[in-house]
Amino acid sequence: MGLHSKKEVMTEEDFSLLRDLVRREFGVLLKGDKRLTLHAKVSHRLGILGLGSYREYYDYILSDPSKDELYTLASHITNNETYFFRERVQLDVFLDLLKEIKREKQRRRQNRLRILSVASSSGEEVYTLNIIVQESGLFAWDWDVLITGIDINRNAVRKAQEACYSQNSFRSLNGDAGIAKKYFTADKDRFRLRKFFKKNVEFRHGNILDRNAFGGLCPVDVVFCRNALIYMSDEAIAKIVGNFFDCIDERGYLFVGSSESLIQRTNLFLPEYVDGIIVYRKNARGNNALE
Ligand SMILES: C[S@@+](CC[C@H](N)C(=O)[O-])C[C@H]1O[C@@H](n2cnc3c(N)ncnc32)[C@H](O)[C@@H]1O
Repeated sequence: MGLHSKKEVMTEEDFSLLRDLVRREFGVLLKGDKRLTLHAKVSHRLGILGLGSYREYYDYILSDPSKDELYTLASHITNNETYFFRERVQLDVFLDLLKEIKREKQRRRQNRLRILSVASSSGEEVYTLNIIVQESGLFAWDWDVLITGIDINRNAVRKAQEACYSQNSFRSLNGDAGIAKKYFTADKDRFRLRKFFKKNVEFRHGNILDRNAFGGLCPVDVVFCRNALIYMSDEAIAKIVGNFFDCIDERGYLFVGSSESLIQRTNLFLPEYVDGIIVYRKNARGNNALE
């Protein structure tokens, strides 16, 4: 019988309440056919919290000022799929742009590089970017470098901070053990990132719909937001892109996943084609409709 006192069912009405809540709070769209999946993922929470129905669960979430249960819900509904060196062609362009960024910084007599990986999941993207920055040798010595990962899933943030990964996180490397060996130490069947590549990196729990998530980080030179917008509503994308517009330096860059596009969605960013890849630059004449 487990922790449940009785078998709750998730009615269409329950599903609508939770689906709308998830959309409002995180921007994530749950399709109509996800009722059973959602039930399977969260029904144990009712038992743990001693609640008799999904309606009570919904009210519990709304009445919790700490938003603790809301974030627990987030951790059950988000797709955290990620791996090292994902979408390599974009990363090659990123490396090229670092040279440009450095030139521009030197022209402005600045020595500060800021990169954001939002929707960073368990950190593979953040560490990939750090490896690329460190290996480029462009920002050594007196440069102040910080790469920040932000994600709404607290478990993913914790995993990112641990920086210890299974073979699965290396699946894009097609069995090339070189990278795992060079940047990680083997720890039984896991790979622990070497200390050097954990430097200049931090992780935050945050909701990118909320501009407070970016507090103290702006202006940033590059934002990576890959494979997250694809799960989001149009209103959420507009809000998030507005937050990026306010946070990115006037000469900065925005990368979204190769299956995502901002073209004809916003006037805040303009696409620029670099080696067959689209990167977005701030549109000096764009106006943030959210202001
Ligand atoms: C598929 S992963 C993408 C990971 C990485 N960017 C990549 O491309 O490999 C999507 C991530 O978006 C996060 N996410 C979804 N909604 C979010 C929100 N409103 N604020 C912050 N993170 C969010 C999820 O928790 C999940 O870890």
